[in-house]
Parts: sequence; structure tokens; C-alpha cells
Amino acid sequence: MGGAMHEDRARLALEVHPEHGEGPLWDDRRQRLFWVDVTGGAVHVLDPATGDDVEIRVDQQVGAVALREDGSLVVAGERGLAVLDPDAHPGSAAGEGPVVLDVVVPLESDDDATRCNDGTVDPHGRFWIGTMAHDHRPAAGTLYRVDADRSIHRQVSGLTISNGIAWSPDGSTAWFIDSASGWVDVLTVDPGSGDVQRRRPAIDLHAGPGVPDGMTIDAEGGRWVAMYGGWQVRRHGPDGHLDTVITLPVAQPTSCALGGPDLDELFITTTPENMDAATLAEQPLSGSLFRCTVDVPGLPPDRWAG
Ligand code: BGC
Ligand code: CA
Repeated sequence: MGGAMHEDRARLALEVHPEHGEGPLWDDRRQRLFWVDVTGGAVHVLDPATGDDVEIRVDQQVGAVALREDGSLVVAGERGLAVLDPDAHPGSAAGEGPVVLDVVVPLESDDDATRCNDGTVDPHGRFWIGTMAHDHRPAAGTLYRVDADRSIHRQVSGLTISNGIAWSPDGSTAWFIDSASGWVDVLTVDPGSGDVQRRRPAIDLHAGPGVPDGMTIDAEGGRWVAMYGGWQVRRHGPDGHLDTVITLPVAQPTSCALGGPDLDELFITTTPENMDAATLAEQPLSGSLFRCTVDVPGLPPDRWAG
């Protein structure tokens, strides 16, 4: 494309106050946006057409959710992966206990120091999920691949804050972020086995603003990166150049997803995590969801075969 940089402002999609909003995921069949409250331990289902948001509280922290082929969710919790049918839980009523997750794929389940963070499904139906330490301790995290037969394959270790995985449509390339590194890396993946063959740095974001967190990819191969602490989500085109900045009235966007009927609405989660009272008073919408219409649509979500 080249030419002038495009700037836009996100508008409020849902005023809401989670502990730590994260993990937006567009479900094209239901026309709903799933998102999670990580430390609050909840999965949310937003109908952007009406603004209705349903909260399903669960019994552990949730890093991410992804869709399964039957339409249910895989929930990446503190101790591993569980299956949740969102239609069976029309929302937690006040005073009702959390849904007890049945962990079907344990991940670091004997390690209380870590939890699942960001995750996504690749075009071959394999679920990729990263872990991190609750206290952000360096190098405690690992990126795993969980195949259709639910076997677990350790792919990248020594990670600090495993984030932002986005796939090329043929499944041979993943863009991946360890927030602590400040880079978007490229993982070259063998499409047959799913094994990572090579990891190399691709987009240098270590000068900020903020640190790269969650990411999504659009139909042109543009990568949209939430800049945590940087008040913006930005697009790097297929050649890696910054071409669009979407600004927010809050400093801490955490992730983004393209959705809506035409897949051209960028939904952005944000978080109040680690903000003191004064900062929160200045940015009262921290934790709310935002949206912005964009030029290039996204791709429908891939679904876990497990
Ligand atoms: C984690 C946060 C962390 C942030 C930093 C998120 O994915 O859930 O705990 O502070 O990344 O970028
Ligand atoms: Ca994240």
C-alpha cells in the first residue's frame, strides 16, 4: 500500500469492569464475541448487535478460549484445557457458584506459579496455548501445541509472557509475541507434523509505545497488535510496515479480534490490571470493550479438532 499512515479512534462497545479483560474471539456462527476475565475467572458472551453481555463464572483463572468443531468452547484455565458448552450456561446469576471446569488436557497442573495465557487454533485444527508465571517471572512460560487426539507437544520454552498468536491461512507461519521481548516473532511450522522448525524476530516493537500483547491477522495478512500500556492497537501490513493506528481512551488494550457480520469490526479488550486508584480514576473505562470499523476484513475462526 504505502502512503500516509491511517489513524482512527476506537469507540466504546461495552462498558464493563472485569479484573483483567482479555482474549476476544469472534464466533461467526453465533455472531457473538467471546472474551475472558482472566483473574476474575469468567467467560463472557457479547452480542454486539444488542450490547447484551452474558457472564459465565468459572472456578479458575482463564487465559483464553477457542471454538471446537461442535460449537462448544475449549477453555484454557489455570491447570489446563477444559470443554465448556456456553449454550448450557445462560449466565451466572447473582449468588450462584461458578461452573466447575473438568480439565481434560492438564497443562502444568502441578505448578501453582503458572497459568495459561493467550492461545489460538491453527488452520489444521490444532490448539496452541502459552503459559506464563502469575508474577511474570522471566522464562517460566512455554508454548504448547495440543493436537486433535489431545496429545501435548512442547514447542517453545523459556518464554516470559506468551501472547498474540496469529496464523497464515495455510498454517505454515505463525506470528507470535513474548511481550517481554518487545518483538513479533515468526514461527515457521511444518504443516504436516505441526512442529515449530524455526523462530526468528520479525517486527521490532520494543521501543513501544507500551508492549505488544494480543494480536490478530486480517485477510490481507495485516497483523493487528494491541499495545499494552501504549493506548493503541496498530496494524503492520504484510510487509511489516506500520500503516494504521487505532487510539483508545485507556492505556492498556490487551488483545483484538475482527468480527461482526462482515468481519470488519475490530473488537478490543482492555484491562485495569496493575493500575493504582489515581490512574483508574483518570481512565475509568479501563476493562471496557472497544470497537472500530476497519477497511480489510478478518478471517473466520479456526476450530479445535480435539
Ligand atoms: C497478560 C498480562 C500481562 C500482559 C502484558 C497479558 O497477556 O495476561 O498479565 O500484564 O500480557 O503484555
Ligand atoms: Ca494477552
